Amino acid sequence: MVNNLAKHLSLNDNTMIPSLGFGTAELKGGKAADSVSFAIKHGYRLIDTSPNYGNEEEVGKGIQSALGNDAAREDLFISTKVEEDDMSFEGVQKSVEESLGRLKLDYIDLLLIHSPSDNDEVNIETWKGFEAVLKSGKVKSIGISNFTRKELKPLLDNATVTPSINQVELAPGNVDWDTKEFCESHDIVIMSYSPLKKGQLDNETIKKLADQYGKSPQQIALRWTVDLNTIPIPRSGNEEHIQSNAEIVDFSLTENEVQAIKDLT
Ligand SMILES: NC(=O)c1ccc[n+]([C@@H]2O[C@H](COP(=O)([O-])OP(=O)(O)OC[C@H]3O[C@@H](n4cnc5c(N)ncnc54)[C@H](OP(=O)(O)O)[C@@H]3O)[C@@H](O)[C@H]2O)c1
Repeated sequence: MVNNLAKHLSLNDNTMIPSLGFGTAELKGGKAADSVSFAIKHGYRLIDTSPNYGNEEEVGKGIQSALGNDAAREDLFISTKVEEDDMSFEGVQKSVEESLGRLKLDYIDLLLIHSPSDNDEVNIETWKGFEAVLKSGKVKSIGISNFTRKELKPLLDNATVTPSINQVELAPGNVDWDTKEFCESHDIVIMSYSPLKKGQLDNETIKKLADQYGKSPQQIALRWTVDLNTIPIPRSGNEEHIQSNAEIVDFSLTENEVQAIKDLT
């Protein structure tokens, strides 16, 4: 059985990544640290944060408390982002130093542009900064977030390094199929954020499948996002949810069932 929590997928830069991770938006203070260390203790290896979640320090504490006991640094995959104010060549260098300081890490596994600028030149200059931090070794893999084909095309035309990941909103009933297809044609993996619709997953098709498989609607949704070859990063501050969200490898959806959920969009 594939261990979806260990690094087993290969990105276009040959970096290995798990097929399911843990999101941390809105987890604050001790809750963020405790949830992250609980998640790592229970097998999660991919942890996603961002400067604008205001929790990198606490996420870092959660990581530090798990290191050595529940996981080795090289088994973890930590992603963070660069915000709008730092979207320049120098801004990226500064942002990485600040994130490393808050997380108390020597390197970041994945750095993402959090959201594209409307100005392609800003995206391109920022990407040059990403390529520089990649070269420096402070970041192991670089990617983007919330880019559609429109912003991605000019970036690719000017990039030396192709982004490895595009982190976009993706859940049952909420998929930008054009962006997904465009990314896949460039060997860019989709990381699915808000895969549980921020807790508002309420749909009859999903509920029926959950009853049929003896699973929760959340597990059906996460299984589906994995079956679409994307990497979901559900967030939870609830220990029971953190554990059950990872238990999605002991069943699989049929092609028809995958299609039925696709038809919701
Ligand atoms: N790049 C971007 O622009 C961007 C934007 C948004 C999010 N993200 C990333 O994606 C991550 C996930 O997205 P998200 O935080 O927006 O929302 P989400 O993961 O879709 O949903 C989180 C909500 O679902 C609930 N939940 C989780 N597991 C559950 C379960 N098994 N049963 C019932 N309820 C459950 C959580 O409540 P409990 O705490 O009670 O479990 C929470 O309210 C974020 O944390 C962040 O890392 C990135």
